Amino acid sequence: RNEASAAMEQTFIMIKPDGVQRGLVCSPFPSPLISSSFASFIHSSALHCVKILPTTILFLFSPSTLEKKGEIFLVIFVRRSGLKLVGVERSFAEKHYADLSAKPFFGSLVEYIISGPVVAMVWTGKNVVVTGRKIIGATNPAESAPGTIRGDYAIEIGRNVIHGSDSVESARKEIALWFPEGISEWQSNLHPWIYE
Ligand code: TYD
Repeated sequence: RNEASAAMEQTFIMIKPDGVQRGLVCSPFPSPLISSSFASFIHSSALHCVKILPTTILFLFSPSTLEKKGEIFLVIFVRRSGLKLVGVERSFAEKHYADLSAKPFFGSLVEYIISGPVVAMVWTGKNVVVTGRKIIGATNPAESAPGTIRGDYAIEIGRNVIHGSDSVESARKEIALWFPEGISEWQSNLHPWIYE
């Protein structure tokens, strides 16, 4: 329906270095989310980080959070490289967090983001910016509700495991910054069961 597609949004989501280092992107659980088309995409990808791709979705966002919100977690893949595990340089991290450059924690925040690889991705869905933030939880894990990603997996504000764009406008900027090569949609047959 038209109003549903009009409300479709994209948001930039990043598993921060601590999430990667702690193995939160790895999961022992199989998932119905790994459809055959997704699996063949993974296998055809030349990335060295292929193992982390399905498991990113599996562990942090599944089964509970994923199943609750259905296909809102549909990942959009980058045309050439796919959802990616990347290490960023200081200047790039400073650009990503440019709005916070005057804050006292800016220096340590940048150090944190460049301290190891991150998993950068784009999610698409109806109202996915706001919903993504709700599922990620409050900035300070001491205030994030149980059941949110930060509430369940983090303790310190400076190690809060995951980033999600805070508005449609910042999502647009962040996606352009992190995925200058462009993105393409992962087709899924779940769509008609999630959206009217
Ligand atoms: P912010 O954009 O305010 O939060 P969010 O990530 O929830 O959108 O801040 C960016 C990051 O900066 C935040 O995830 C953790 C870090 N941070 C601190 O280390 N100390 C602080 O006091 C705040 C407000 C944020």
